[in-house]
Amino acid sequence: MSELNKIALKIISNGKGILAADESNGTMSKRLEAVNVTSTPENRLLFRETLFSSESMKECIGGVILYDETINQMTSSGKSIPDLISISGALPGIKVDTGAKELANSSEEKITEGLDGLRDRLKKYYELGARFTKWRGVYLISEKYPSKLAISSNAHALARYSALVQESGMVPIVEPEVLMDGDHSADACFSKTSEVIKKCFEELTLHKIDLSGIILKPNMIINGKNSKNKISNEEISQKTIECLKNSVPTEVPGVAFLSGGQSELEATENLNLINKNNNTNFIMTYSYGRALQQSALKMWSKNIKDIEATQKTFNHRAKMCTLAAQGKWASELENE
Ligand code: 13P
Repeated sequence: MSELNKIALKIISNGKGILAADESNGTMSKRLEAVNVTSTPENRLLFRETLFSSESMKECIGGVILYDETINQMTSSGKSIPDLISISGALPGIKVDTGAKELANSSEEKITEGLDGLRDRLKKYYELGARFTKWRGVYLISEKYPSKLAISSNAHALARYSALVQESGMVPIVEPEVLMDGDHSADACFSKTSEVIKKCFEELTLHKIDLSGIILKPNMIINGKNSKNKISNEEISQKTIECLKNSVPTEVPGVAFLSGGQSELEATENLNLINKNNNTNFIMTYSYGRALQQSALKMWSKNIKDIEATQKTFNHRAKMCTLAAQGKWASELENE
């Protein structure tokens, strides 16, 4: 077993999942302002520190993805944030892309940037305690999108990123996110997602990536947010498994889904069914941002000093997701 494979398995085994707390300051400000909390470095730290010191971190969370500001912050008790995370047994991770920008010659689409100077930034993050990283490519669905250009250029960037990350001794999370925005069918999501993921693996292979030392972070196969033809949770789980079975090489140890705009309950129920129906060798778990933090953020905003109430809400959500990652969730458990 390679060292990278061991790290990947440590993050996603035994029902553990990933807390994606790597919102950029811009995104985090929107989230905080939506619940009437001023977005200051102190408030961003307070919310995150509250989550990272929750009880459920020990049994549920295998890794936390941080943003550059957070990985450099100190907690109120003088510990570094990576140390706080490590104490619970989880691994600290870091988002290293610098965002999705307009793609030249296809201006409605995006290309993710951040390769310049990446090798040096990775060294710094490793020294700060990071053992895994994230890079997100985003793809729109419509009749003509994603274009071959967007599929190919984002896959190339994901592969160059992965090579540098593995060289630095960390596990890359490879995140090609086909967005839920739009009125497309689940079948369109299936075919576009399959094409996107296959191209990513073609590039990862070309760049000699150790596939046993990555974690894939895809979207589930789901109809567009505005589609009139909503498919059932059971169909979502079956189509998602089929898509991954056909497009992901078997060396990959696991898949950690993004929530992508699904509600907390939808993301939990779909993950649970995916695990009940999972007939692949891939571990299937979560790497949720909104679907792990939404209720906790709402609770926190009522009184940002009430750490206990926020942690209780977060603990419940994390526990539900971890049950779903083992196919052991049931809706009745939500009310316990
Ligand atoms: P969501 O689960 O809120 O989609 O966030 C996951 C993520 O990390 C997106 O890059």
